[in-house]
Formats: sequence, structure tokens, C-alpha cells
Amino acid sequence: MRSYIIAGNWKMYTTPVEAATLASAILEQHERLQPPHSVKTIICPPYTSLYAAREVIAGTRICLGAQNCHYENKGAFTGEVAPMMLKASGCSYVILGHSERRQYCGETNALVNKKIHGALRDGLIPIYCVGETLIERQNNQTLDIIRVQLVDGLKDVSLHSAEQLVIAYEPVWAIGTGLAATPSQAQEVHSAIRAILSEVWKEYGARVRILYGGSLKPENAEEIFTMPDVDGGLIGGASLQAESFGAILAVACHLAVQ
Ligand code: PGA
Repeated sequence: MRSYIIAGNWKMYTTPVEAATLASAILEQHERLQPPHSVKTIICPPYTSLYAAREVIAGTRICLGAQNCHYENKGAFTGEVAPMMLKASGCSYVILGHSERRQYCGETNALVNKKIHGALRDGLIPIYCVGETLIERQNNQTLDIIRVQLVDGLKDVSLHSAEQLVIAYEPVWAIGTGLAATPSQAQEVHSAIRAILSEVWKEYGARVRILYGGSLKPENAEEIFTMPDVDGGLIGGASLQAESFGAILAVACHLAVQ
């Protein structure tokens, strides 16, 4: 039986009221589909909507995630949120190193590495995003860029923590563009990611969950999810509508029990 993670990245969308409505609609889809235990559903609202979403999904198998965190667990860091605060607010996951944060907030592999350590220290599972830009792909640098993001971003992450980690391959040119990677493009990079992780973590490399993200929708989910090294998806735009998120979840449920 294959296992899948279907994670919704709500980005900077939803007020608390809107988040509660969306979470309820997603919960309805979840109850209708009754995913097998090998399929995990995660929603990642913005900070201010975490509480509202949590109220709705409390006691269900849907997990809560955040979209960023600081690396310290407290301190004079105005405007920042600590991993342990997220943990205490019901989160079990945190998206780190998303390309929008790399691009707009100047986050580097070294900074994201500190955040990954902070998240693991406080009991959050990082969903670590890596991916190349269009220019990098055109220059045949994709695998070099990904290698650096993995090696620097995951520096000193222990074997024990490796089991907890989730990687998301998100080609920057596919995010929010409607232009997803083809299944074979995704598979090529996912298997390279696994190979790189296996160099460091040996047999754990085979067990690390690697999600695809970038214009995932109900129409392309099946062809991408059937690729051998794709373990699910990190979904932006299509996660903001319960119907499309539910349709992607349905694909994972169907493939998991085949
Ligand atoms: P998208 O975003 O599905 O809207 O392309 C994915 C992401 O940024 O995680």
C-alpha cells in the first residue's frame, strides 16, 4: 500500500472566519472520502487563522501546519513566531524554505537550516521546500541547485530527525503559473532528491516523504502521484477550494489502496 501526504498551503489567504468556513468544507470532503490511514491530510493556514482552523479540525485526522517560523523558541524578535508557539497552537507541521520566502524575504539555505533545527527541536515536522527557477532549469542547473538546497538546508540534521522530515519539490516556474512539471520531470528530480538524501542518511533516504508542489490540480494529480518517488503534494491555489482540494485528496485515496 502506498502512503501519501496531501498538504494545503493557504499562503496569505483567509481571515479567521474564512478559514473556519474553508476548514469545515475540507472536513466535509475528508469525511466523505474516509481516507485510509496511509493518506495524511494537512492544512496550513496563515498564523492568524490557525486557531480558527484548529477549532474545526480538532479531534479529526486532519493535521495543522504553519507556513513559517523563527528558529529560536523565544526572545526579542518582534513580529516573529517561535516553533514551540506553533506546537502549542496545535500545529504538527511547518512549511520552511518556500520559494516565496526565499524570493520576497531573502531567506537563504543557511537561515532555513536554522529554522529546520528549531522546528525539530520543538517537535514540529518541517516540510522543507526546494526547487529551481526557470533560468536555472534552462541552464541545466536544476540538480546542482537542488543538491545545494538539500545539503546546506539539512546540514547537521540527524538520522533520527530524517525520519520525521518531509521534502517538497516545488519548481519555482510551476508555482501559481498553471504550468506544472510533467510527471517525468517531477520523477527525475524526486529520484535525484532521494539519491542525494541516501548519500547522507543511507537507508533513510528511501523512507523520506517527497511531495510535489507547483500547479497541482485535480486534472494532473493522478499522473504525478503515480510516479514512484512522488509521495503526495503541496498544493497552493487548488487548496483554497474544498472541491478541488477534495478531488486531489480523492486521487491519493484511490491510488493508496490500489
Ligand atoms: P500552487 O502553489 O499550487 O498555487 O502552484 C504551490 C505552493 O506554492 O506551495
